[in-house]
Amino acid sequence: MKIAVIYGTERKGSTYNIAQLFISKLSDAKEDVTEFFLPTSMPNFCRGCFMCFNESSNCPDYKYVKPILDAMLNADILIFASPVYVYHVTGQMKTFLDHFAFQWMVHKPNEKMFKKQALIISTAAGGGTKSTMKDLKDSMIYWGVAKTHTYGVNVAAGSWNHVSDKKKTEIKNTVDKLSTKIKNNSSHIKPCLKVKTLFYGMRFFHKKFGVNKPDVEYWENKGWLYKTRPW
Ligand SMILES: Cc1cc2nc3c(=O)[nH]c(=O)nc-3n(C[C@H](O)[C@H](O)[C@H](O)COP(=O)(O)O)c2cc1C
Repeated sequence: MKIAVIYGTERKGSTYNIAQLFISKLSDAKEDVTEFFLPTSMPNFCRGCFMCFNESSNCPDYKYVKPILDAMLNADILIFASPVYVYHVTGQMKTFLDHFAFQWMVHKPNEKMFKKQALIISTAAGGGTKSTMKDLKDSMIYWGVAKTHTYGVNVAAGSWNHVSDKKKTEIKNTVDKLSTKIKNNSSHIKPCLKVKTLFYGMRFFHKKFGVNKPDVEYWENKGWLYKTRPW
C-alpha cells in the first residue's frame, strides 16, 4: 500500500518511532512511502490571503503545498504523526493544516480522499492525545477521508530511549492489531457516516444558497449537485 506520512516535528522521537512501526507493518516497499517533515516541508505560516479558495494553485506557498498534495492523492493511506504540544498538535502541523483549508468539504474536497484511510498517531508524556488527535481528525473528516483511525499513547517520557520496555511491548501489540485492521479494510473502503452526512449537508448548502461561486461551480462540474457521488 502506498503511504504518505506527515510528521509534526523533525525530531525522531517517540512519535516518529511509533510511525515507523506502523509503516513497517503496512508497507512492503520503501519506495511506496513518502515522508514529509515539518516545518521543513511547509516552512511558512498561512497568510490568510484567501487566494486558495478561488484556486488552490494561487496559494503563495503552492511550491510546498503541491508535492505534499500530490503524494497524499497518490497514497492509499495518510499517516499524521504529532507529539502533543500544550494539549494540541505542534504549531508546524497546525500551519500545515491551514494550507489545506481549500479542500475542506464546503470548498473543494478532492474525490480521491473519499477512498482513502488515514491514521493519526500522537504521543504525550502524560495527557492531551485526545485533543491533539481531534485537531487532525477534524481536517480528515472535512477533507472527506473515508475512514480515520487514531492511536494516542502516553509514553511517560520525553524521548523514545526513555520509554519503558513494558510500554514498548504494549505499543508494538497495539500497532500489530491496528495495522491488521487497516490492511483488512483496504479492499472495501467506503466513507464513514460523518463524512457522508457532511457531504450531503454541504451539497444542500450549495444548492440552496450558492454563496461562493468558485465552490458552487466546482461542485456543479463534479456532478455532485446532481446524481454523481465522490465515492
Ligand atoms: C513544547 C512542548 C509541549 C508539550 N506539551 C505536553 C502536554 O501538553 N502534555 C503532555 O503530556 N506532554 C507534553 N509534552 C511532552 C511530549 O508530548 C512527549 O514527550 C512526546 O512523547 C514527545 O514526542 P517526540 O518524542 O516524538 O518528540 C510537551 C513537549 C514539548 C516540547
